[in-house]
Amino acid sequence: MKAVSIIGLGKYLPKKVLTNKELEKMVDTSDDWITTRTGIKERRLAAKSEATSDLAVNAARLALQDAGLKAESVELIITATITGDMPFPSVSCLIQRSLGAKKAVCFDISAACAGFVYALVTAQQFVARGVYKNALVIGAETLSTITDWQDRNTCVLFGDGSGAAVIAPVKKPGILSTYLGSDGSLGDLLMVPGGGSRNPTSHDTVDKRMHYIKMRGNELFKLAVKIMVDAANEALRKAGLDCKDVDCFIPHQANIRILMAVAKRLGLDTDRIYLNIEKYGNMSSASTAVALCDAVKSGRVKKGDIVVLDAFGGGLVWGACVIKW
Ligand code: ACO
Repeated sequence: MKAVSIIGLGKYLPKKVLTNKELEKMVDTSDDWITTRTGIKERRLAAKSEATSDLAVNAARLALQDAGLKAESVELIITATITGDMPFPSVSCLIQRSLGAKKAVCFDISAACAGFVYALVTAQQFVARGVYKNALVIGAETLSTITDWQDRNTCVLFGDGSGAAVIAPVKKPGILSTYLGSDGSLGDLLMVPGGGSRNPTSHDTVDKRMHYIKMRGNELFKLAVKIMVDAANEALRKAGLDCKDVDCFIPHQANIRILMAVAKRLGLDTDRIYLNIEKYGNMSSASTAVALCDAVKSGRVKKGDIVVLDAFGGGLVWGACVIKW
């Protein structure tokens, strides 16, 4: 098995900002409620002309540039998304076409908010075994297209964006350990019930607003805290480390109160957690990817740091990854 690490990062956020103040005009909510309950102040929204693959391509180009890798040399593209441009082709194939990455093998992963960690772990298997020399791993979402803008319980939480990473073999191990988990018995807590083969699109499913995210927030909140703590501990244990070794904890940016509770239980002081939820909200698979990119590019993560990615989402699915930067 080859040692593998992230050798390039990129992100792209759509230009349009939707603030809490603007949301006050759309549903019965307040800036104060959203800020204190979630930590979110604003989020980005894709333009009408921008599909998920458009956001993804912009992030991917920057990640390839950062890695010094030409698109023609990319051997594998894995995109984590729950908001593909269409049922098929996959977003990864659409990205391949835009980039001109002719050599790449392309497929998508559906693991909601844990998607980027799932995609990273999947790509790592291929690269570590020498099946492919490198991989482009992307988390990209236009959650605004599956958000019910009349439902105050959910519409204040989500945003659009994308983050990308290039992984390749390195001399010293970068990705030290990974851990994934799933519990399909809890899938009803967070879902989009309409538009698939169970409830194909019809006038009735549209009238019932079944194409939008349905979420049981309270139940998810408690599960998220426990599962994210367990996942981080398990990945650290597999790496032979513990919480005191962590320099930067980069969680899926779901809700500031979830993240503070996770940090407290892990015994992490707040300056070891990376947060950008205030600016972007919850972007599902893009959240962890964008947060990692921001943490590295801002200098918050330095060479030699121990970084932990930790994510949780609908499915339920979760995953954590320990990286020596
Ligand atoms: N503005 C004002 N009031 C609101 C809003 C809003 N936007 N949303 C809900 N409320 C009201 C509710 O109607 C309720 O009123 P009631 O008491 O009169 O019925 C009250 O606020 C409290 O509602 P709760 O649901 O108990 O509020 P809570 O403190 O739990 O916060 C929240 C809700 C933010 C959704 C929280 O439960 C949460 O973050 N859960 C986790 C959700 C999550 O992270 N999901 C994603 C994880 S997986 C993934 O990322 C895909």
